[in-house]
Amino acid sequence: MGLPGTVTVHADAAEVAVAAADWILDISATAITAGGRFRVALAGGNTPRGLYQLLAASPRREATEWSGWEVFFGDERACPADDPGSNYRMAREALLDLVPIAPQRIHRIEGERPDLEAAAREYGTILSSTSGVGAPGAPPRLDCVLLGLGENGHTASLFPGDPSLEVRDRWVVRSRADYAPYDRITLTFPVLNAAAHVGFLVAGAAKGDALRGVIQGTVPAARVRPVDGDLRWFLDVAAASEAV
Ligand code: 6PG
Repeated sequence: MGLPGTVTVHADAAEVAVAAADWILDISATAITAGGRFRVALAGGNTPRGLYQLLAASPRREATEWSGWEVFFGDERACPADDPGSNYRMAREALLDLVPIAPQRIHRIEGERPDLEAAAREYGTILSSTSGVGAPGAPPRLDCVLLGLGENGHTASLFPGDPSLEVRDRWVVRSRADYAPYDRITLTFPVLNAAAHVGFLVAGAAKGDALRGVIQGTVPAARVRPVDGDLRWFLDVAAASEAV
């Protein structure tokens, strides 16, 4: 297929969610067994909703130690937490309100703040202080980062041409989308690439061009290359068949 990492192709979006859910259960069990904690950054958008709903329902709900989970977000829109466009709201409704993760282990990006730079800076501090870190100054190491892929090849809120793509010395920054809500806060590539496991969930023929862009290295998502971690692509047939 030409994508970096490991690619699995599934019949449809529902099967993408099943494969990703079982992958997450596996890596969360390993992380919790090894260190008592599973630090995961959730993806926003629509695709992951089905995954989150599977994790929140039997039998998967009973198949992980939620007490070990620590939840972050890959990005957030500049909106209130209860806004229909909020990534936090989507994850809260599909997963976080339905499973026993302690509130202090759920780290919401405060997209409603007037000063998005300060909100981003403070989130970076939280991320660094609660995640596994390597050498001083190294980016925080999450156990898992879930990502979607926009039709223009963006991921998280790292959009084509935006200065956030070039940031190497900060872990969370303000960014600008090319569709509303325009103002965003996003993890940067150093954090995405420091993760132990990165999983893209991509479904629908409309993502074919973006996948080709990843293969050709021409879109932001092509820069997701974990330094010391594994990269997984969970695709449905519709997206994969457009990408060849
Ligand atoms: C966001 C997401 C974004 C999303 C892609 C794909 O805030 O919108 O972080 O990166 O993952 O746009 O979105 P869909 O899964 O809805 O296609």
